[in-house]
Amino acid sequence: MKKLSDVALRAVGQPMFKILEAAQKLERSGKDILHFELGEPDFDTPQNIINAACDALNNGYTHYESSAGLRELREVIVEVTLNSRQFSPDLDQILITPGANAIIYLSIASLVNPGYEVIVPDPGFPTYFSSIDLCGAKAVSVPLKKENNFQLDPDDLLRSITSKTRLIIINSPSNPTGSCMTPDQIFKVSEIAKEHDIFLLSDEIYSRLIFEGVDFSSAATFDECKERTIILNGFSKAFAMTGWRLGVAIGPTEVINKMNLMLNTIVSCVPPFIQVAGIEALEGDQSELIRMKETYYKRKQIIVSGLNSIKGIDCLDPTGAMYVFPDIRGTGMNSNEFADICLNKAGVALLPGTNFGQYGEGFVRMCYVNTEERIIEAIERIRKVLE
Ligand SMILES: Cc1ncc(COP(=O)(O)O)c(C=O)c1O
Repeated sequence: MKKLSDVALRAVGQPMFKILEAAQKLERSGKDILHFELGEPDFDTPQNIINAACDALNNGYTHYESSAGLRELREVIVEVTLNSRQFSPDLDQILITPGANAIIYLSIASLVNPGYEVIVPDPGFPTYFSSIDLCGAKAVSVPLKKENNFQLDPDDLLRSITSKTRLIIINSPSNPTGSCMTPDQIFKVSEIAKEHDIFLLSDEIYSRLIFEGVDFSSAATFDECKERTIILNGFSKAFAMTGWRLGVAIGPTEVINKMNLMLNTIVSCVPPFIQVAGIEALEGDQSELIRMKETYYKRKQIIVSGLNSIKGIDCLDPTGAMYVFPDIRGTGMNSNEFADICLNKAGVALLPGTNFGQYGEGFVRMCYVNTEERIIEAIERIRKVLE
C-alpha cells in the first residue's frame, strides 16, 4: 500500500515561511506590506565577497570538494576560532555545511535516538523543535523569562535534565529574543553538561552581532569542542549571506565525522566557490560588516523606543542579534491575534511568539531588517490599529 514514512509525516518545516506567503499574497492584491517577519538582512552581500566567488568560479572551483570542506577555509576557521574563542580546533573537528540550519538536524541525528530528550530554550529557533521531531526525539523546553531578561537560568536547566537527556541546546545571542547569556551563565551550563555527561550544541550564529558593552563568551572555551560541545556558526546573518548557504560546525572529531558522513550522503559537499567566498568574508575587508552592525544598532534603538511608546506593549532592549521580542499582553490580545491584526489591518508582517515555542505566547518577534523610515512607519501603523 502506498504510504508516507513516519519521518515524512513528522516533517513540518519552518513556520515563518507561512507568514511570508500570506504577506506576499496581500502584496499581490495591491496592499503595501512592511516586512519584519524573516531573519533576512536587507543588505546585499559585501562586494569583496561576491568578487571572491566570481574569481573562484573563473579559477576552476567548480568541482566536487571534500565533504568536510575546503582545507583552506577550515585553516582560516582555526585562526578565527583562536582569535575569538582562544583555542585551535584540529581540522577534523571542523565541518563546512550548506547553511547552519543543517547543523541542527545533523547534530541531533548523530547524537539522539528516538524517544530520548533534547533540552531547548523556549522561546527558541523553530528548527530546534522541528529537527527534534524529525528525529523522533522529544523537545524539553526551558523557559526564557522576560523577568530574567530572557536569559536562560541554569537552575531551570538543571531541573529539566532526566536520564533520557542526550543534548542541550543554547543560543546566545538568541533568536527570537536578542538576549545574550552572561559568561557566568554559559560557564554554569557547561558545568551542568559536564557533570551529567550530556552533549551541548552552542548556537553562536549571532556572535558577531553583539552590541557594545556586552561580553561574548562561548561554551566551547571550556572543552575546546573536544568532549561534548558543538559550535554552530554561519555566514548568513553577520555577512548578509543568507542565500549562499554556508555554515560551520566545530565539535568532537567522532561527532563531526558522523555528521560529515550524513552530510555527504545527502548533499555530497558545499560548492567550493562558495567556500572561497567564505574565506574572503572572514579574512577580507570588514568595513561593511561594521557598517551593517552600526545600522542595526540605530534601528534597534528606534524600534525599541517606538514600541514602548505604544499603549499595551513593553519591549526589552536586546543586547544582540537583530530581533526585538515585545510583550504584547497589555493589548489584551494573544500572539496570533496581534500578528493577524498587524498583517491584515496595519500591513505589518511580524511573527507570533508562539512560532518559537509555548513560552512565546504573549509576545511577537520583529526583525529590524528594514530602513529607519519603514520602522517608524510600522510603529505608527501599529499604534493606529491598536488605538
Ligand atoms: C538561531 C539560529 N540558528 C541557526 C540559523 C540558521 O541559519 P542559516 O541556515 O541561514 O545559516 C538561524 C537562522 O535564522 C538562526 O536564527
